[in-house]
Order: sequence, then C-alpha cells, then structure tokens
Amino acid sequence: MEIIIRPDSQQASMIAAGIVARTVREKPHAVLGLATGNTPLQLYRNLVRMHRDEGLDFAGMTSFNLDEYVGIPPAHPSSFHSYMWAHLFSHINLPKERINIPDGLTTDVPAACRKYEQAIRSAGGIDVQVLGIGSNGHIGFNEPSSSLSSRTRIKTLTEESRLDVAAAFGGEEGVPTHVLTMGLGTIMDARKCLLLAFGKKKARAVARTVEGPVTAMVPGSVLQLHPRTILVLDKDAASELEMADYYAWVHEHKPDWQKY
Ligand code: PGA
Repeated sequence: MEIIIRPDSQQASMIAAGIVARTVREKPHAVLGLATGNTPLQLYRNLVRMHRDEGLDFAGMTSFNLDEYVGIPPAHPSSFHSYMWAHLFSHINLPKERINIPDGLTTDVPAACRKYEQAIRSAGGIDVQVLGIGSNGHIGFNEPSSSLSSRTRIKTLTEESRLDVAAAFGGEEGVPTHVLTMGLGTIMDARKCLLLAFGKKKARAVARTVEGPVTAMVPGSVLQLHPRTILVLDKDAASELEMADYYAWVHEHKPDWQKY
C-alpha cells in the first residue's frame, strides 16, 4: 500500500485528482470507478476545474459507480445518481451512454447485479477505482462481515451507515435499508485503487485497514491484498497509524518517477 499523508483534505484531494487525471491522460479509453459521499467532493471539484481550465478530456472514458440505494428513483435528490450528476457528470464531457450506476429500482436484483459485473468486464475492467471508507471500515457499501470475494449484490445497511446519511433522508426512518454495491472482489479486480479518507472520524477505520489483520470485519483491509492501492489521507485520518512517520519518510524519499 502506498500511503500519502497531507496536512488537510484540500491538499490530499489535489493529489487524488492528479492520480485520476494521469489515468485519463495516459489512457484515452480508461474506465473509472467512482464513489459518492462527502470525501470525494473536492476531488470531483478538482477534476471539473481541470476539465474546464486544462482541457482534461473525458470523451473516451467509461465510468462505473460503486453503489446505489434500493428503491430510490434516480431523480431523488439523495440518490447517488443525483449526487454524481450534481458534482461531476454535468460538468465534464463523459458521454452519458458510458456512465454506469447500479439500478436501485430494478425488479430483478440478481440479474441486474450480474449485468453490472458483465458490463465492467466488457468495458475492459476498471483502471482506477476511487473509494471512500466508512467509519466502520466499509468500502462501497460492503459492510463488516462482507465476503472478501463478493461481487455486485444487494446488501443491508448497518444502523451506523444509516445514521451517517440520515440527514439526507429527513431522519433515520427515511433511509433505505438496502443498497446494490460492487463487491469486494469486484473492487479488487480494479487495476488501481485510490482510497481517500479525511477527518478524525475515519482514523480508526484507516488504522485497521492498513495496519490491522485482513478481515471481513474491516472490509477495507482486503486492500492489503491489492498490489496497487494508494491511500490519500489528511493528518486527522492518519492520526491512529502507528507507522505514520515511516509512510511519510517513504513518500519523501521516493524517486519522482515512482510516485503514485
Ligand atoms: P463519506 O462516506 O465520504 O460521506 O464519509 C464514505 C463511505 O461511507 O464510504
């Protein structure tokens, strides 16, 4: 794992945007794996700015989002569809027909999940997968106890995860109980994983992900088995890492060509 620690989320998000932009520049038909939540907002703002000011070109890209709520129409203001259009898709030139988000309204969940996996394979696999992490260690909506080799499927949210998003649904009762999410096996197939985490609230999950044992109880820890995972953290999210000084030293002493 490559662990990059920056003083704040703004600087960390600049690094993350640079990593995604590099894939976009180097591979004109790249496949991007995208995440929602508060964490990637500044990353997306940077990508929008790079598109506007530097001509970063998404015309050949394909995207797959990690997850979507079950039973929530795409137009619902708190759907992940709405989030993605508000924060990224409306502002860049990624073709609409190559944007993929799980269908939370499907009437045949197993078929829709199989189709999603097939679509990722047909697109050539994900080049870079953006990830946040839940305070309980989930990535995507793979809650603790998720199989480390799981594929896209329906999951039941934990109470903690439902509470985290309660405000967006007018209180906990309004939060959907189920989601469709890429599995941990699906995420592990990405060529590169880019996990962002900011704030003290994530410090324990980050420490368990990086320095704890690989366990289904901390789904993010499966990334220890991924050969190309980069974590971009702010200082607070890194505050419980025992070897933080070492990671910083490693980063400072890398030859430039080896970075990211
Ligand atoms: P957040 O969510 O970015 O809103 O903190 C991350 C997650 O739950 O995966």
